[in-house]
Amino acid sequence: MSEGGAPRTVLGVNERSAGIGQVASEDQLAQGRVQLRSDDTWIPDGLGEVSRRAAAEGIVLLKNEGGVLPLAESAPIAVFGRVQVDWFAVGYGSGGDVRPPYSWNLLDALRADPAVQVDEALAARYEEWSAAHAVEAEPEWGTWPRSHPEMPLTEAEIAEVAARSGLAVVVVGRAAGEAREQALEPGSFYLTDDERTLLARVGAAFDRTVVVVDTGNVIDLAWTRDEALDAVVLAWQGGMESGRAVVDVLTGAVPAGGRLTSTIATRYEDYPTHENFGAEEYNEYVEDVYVGYRWFETFAPQTVLYPFGFGLSYTSLDVRDVAVAADGDTVTVTAEVANTGDHDGTEVVQVYVRAPHGLLGRPARHLAGFAKTGRLRPGATERVEVTFDLTDVAAYDDAGVTGHRSAYVLEAGAYEVLVGADVRAAHPVGAVEVPELRVVRTLREVAAPRPEHAFERVVARPGEDGRAVQGVEKVPTATVARRDRVLAGLPEPLERTGDVEIVLADVAAGRATLDAFVAQLDDDELEALTRGDFTMDSPLGEAGNAGALGGTIAALRAKGVAPLTTTDGPAGIRLAVHTALLPCGTALASTWNPDLVRELNALLGAEMAAKGSDVLLAPGMNIQRDPLCGRNFEYFSEDPLVTGVMAAATVDGIQGAGLAACPKHFAANNQETNREHNDSRVSERALREIYLRGFEICVTRAEPRTIMTSYNKVNGVWAHYHHDLVTTVLRDEWGYTGTVMTDWWMRPATDPDFPALTNDAYRVRAQVDVHMPGAWNRDDRHGDGSLLTSLHAADGITLGELQRTARNVLRLVLSSPRLAS
Ligand code: BGC
Repeated sequence: MSEGGAPRTVLGVNERSAGIGQVASEDQLAQGRVQLRSDDTWIPDGLGEVSRRAAAEGIVLLKNEGGVLPLAESAPIAVFGRVQVDWFAVGYGSGGDVRPPYSWNLLDALRADPAVQVDEALAARYEEWSAAHAVEAEPEWGTWPRSHPEMPLTEAEIAEVAARSGLAVVVVGRAAGEAREQALEPGSFYLTDDERTLLARVGAAFDRTVVVVDTGNVIDLAWTRDEALDAVVLAWQGGMESGRAVVDVLTGAVPAGGRLTSTIATRYEDYPTHENFGAEEYNEYVEDVYVGYRWFETFAPQTVLYPFGFGLSYTSLDVRDVAVAADGDTVTVTAEVANTGDHDGTEVVQVYVRAPHGLLGRPARHLAGFAKTGRLRPGATERVEVTFDLTDVAAYDDAGVTGHRSAYVLEAGAYEVLVGADVRAAHPVGAVEVPELRVVRTLREVAAPRPEHAFERVVARPGEDGRAVQGVEKVPTATVARRDRVLAGLPEPLERTGDVEIVLADVAAGRATLDAFVAQLDDDELEALTRGDFTMDSPLGEAGNAGALGGTIAALRAKGVAPLTTTDGPAGIRLAVHTALLPCGTALASTWNPDLVRELNALLGAEMAAKGSDVLLAPGMNIQRDPLCGRNFEYFSEDPLVTGVMAAATVDGIQGAGLAACPKHFAANNQETNREHNDSRVSERALREIYLRGFEICVTRAEPRTIMTSYNKVNGVWAHYHHDLVTTVLRDEWGYTGTVMTDWWMRPATDPDFPALTNDAYRVRAQVDVHMPGAWNRDDRHGDGSLLTSLHAADGITLGELQRTARNVLRLVLSSPRLAS
């Protein structure tokens, strides 16, 4: 983290005098770097400290019998489990592949804390064993270990340690990742026999046993009920500061305050997705809108081990004087939080709505808003306020049962407002009456399942005792003629002017319009804007980049179009140099503190600027539909509001620093198995209320400059060709004007409604602007010609569409600090 070494200043792409037509030299353009840091291990001041704070705030205390935590030990504590050494700081794949300048494991972090002593003899034994059974440094992509074999210890050996120490910490660790689903087997979702034996022996031998679970995904935690285990800390994967963050919470330096953003069920089979997850060809989302707590609270409350929103504190916190006021559709809940216990603490006041059952059927709970207090000392109080719009809890009628097909409606009745510290604890505090059905927004049918893929979905029907009972109904299927919709939206072309020497900086400075700039571009220039510079690790960017876009050819660069470097995300910047490794998405969401997430990402933005990343391929914001999805660690929650709020905070942080964020993967990318071909078959209602909703919140609140489509199909159409999702919903409904890029490499296909459009032409028609990294085969440095072939074919892609996509891409370049006006 040392400051060391002065920044190396290199000319920005368009650092030149004003006046139309003056451009930087090709040398400067090729460099295109601004203020690059030459010292490899530098990270911005404060980034390590804020990462540590965020990792600590996200840690969830699941159990704390007898107040065993925070630690009050003067005697050494005995730390078991080799993960104390071989700590999982993040998950695998593009979302975790960061080279941090340092990384704290738990053992070293405990040793570094003057308030803690560790049993050094035991620690040394683990260090030796771990060294002798070393974890493979760089396994093949997708074959990473989900856990590490545990060091066996006999009862007698454990008893010997227990004789000199009253408190044990046992560490259990897991990881999953991209192309590495969590598996329903010991060593992944389940504990191994060796881990069970270790926990049982330590639990029996020690007075007090604390378990630390270091994972990015929810795993089986039914074993945490064992009475011999006094405390359970769900540490998540907190990045390079993870070890120190865990120690902060164990000692109480940071009061335990994280809250779950996904439900932990008693058994895997209790999740409503368990029979419809992981198939190779397609998955039917039969649970419909009943994802996560929406399922459990409505149909199966008895199967929950730890509810959504749950997390213990070291103190007792009262939420009192709750008041609900409605002003039109704006509902405001106020409350006072009082720390009535003996330790510091924070509370997350969660507001849920129970909508009247109506004809559509509704989940028993719907998170409508939340507020987190600051750190409250014993005896302190804080007032919090949560505001939400009633129309945001409207339901989407995709079947027309209310008489308003393709509309968000509020059915008549009482909308009960519930407040509490988790979804289960929330209790009614008021209600808002809707006297008669209201149509909130009338939209267009989009992306509905195809008739030949019809399936049955779960629906809640009113039961006798007021509880909902589970029913099934046929999912409504598509009725729209896509061809007509596409044709109706085709843009008029700009009349071509040829090169009139307008450079992009002229547009930035208001000396020329974007249309005038675009009207100059020839076919090759337009084509070059629709794809990256073909490969990852583009020579136009810093070593280790994910690809470059924008000024991918000299002719564009001569017009002042800078090449922009993309890098993964989300847990830090993936480049060849050292960069900060941040807490994973789930850890960040578990803070329920969007301000902190924004602060962290603003510092990350500063690091991007210094290290040459223009676009961070983050946040990852797919819904955690099933606990086995390998990339859940990158994602935020099973709930779209938490997802959308955290994604918006991430985007605000990065873009506030002047760089671009790229929320991904749009949409319904909920598993890794065969992810490039898999079809997510899902009702339009569930798409809109669950899988698109987080993106909608993020786009409308934070205006990300780019968005990445997903690999999978959504109801039969690959996301990178999805006109309904990208043009009708994202751009027309939500008003998005930025760049849409593909996930890395595309699948070839011909537009079923327009046979003259294949591959890149099919994609550009949908306004998926940029194919990343650009080639069709990994090592090629060329495209397949499909775009320009179509441009000159009868009924092919039109010039107006190419120019529209050029505008979408150039708006991104215009927003970049590389473009000095
Ligand atoms: C992942 C994306 C990532 C991209 C570039 C893909 O395999 O799905 O999330 O941003 O690679 O590394």
